[in-house]
Amino acid sequence: MKKILLVHGPNLNLLGKRDKNNYGGLTLLDLENLIESEALKIGMQLEKFQSNHEGEMIDYLQEKNETASGIIINPGALTHYSYALHDALADTKLPCVEVHLSDVENREEWRKISVTASACIAKISGKRELGYIEALGLLEKNI
Ligand code: DQA
Repeated sequence: MKKILLVHGPNLNLLGKRDKNNYGGLTLLDLENLIESEALKIGMQLEKFQSNHEGEMIDYLQEKNETASGIIINPGALTHYSYALHDALADTKLPCVEVHLSDVENREEWRKISVTASACIAKISGKRELGYIEALGLLEKNI
């Protein structure tokens, strides 16, 4: 089975308690379980990780890239300014899809900027959990 890293960044551990208009009502565990069951249907195994710390996310990507086939990442606010995370994603040399639950293109100006997306094969936003399912399909085609 192909292993996919499912990585969530800062504050996404609080899903379910965050603004439901933007992020929906699922907890991170609900979301991970849903994505995992869809992944299994297409023969993919998920390895799940969340951190509120940029350096921990980078350590994780460096550690796991050798054994994984692809990455789905919601970097949270790090999306908008972390060049270090961009480089860590690029250095994995794995196909990566960036997903945002909310419609980042139609919120504050600063959320429209993604410095990490150029290290990814696609950026999906505003489709809540369906964005992650779409990301699985994109990885399936690109692995
Ligand atoms: C987010 C969008 C980011 O701007 C925000 O900082 C988040 C979540 C999303 O999933 O919509 O924490 O990545």
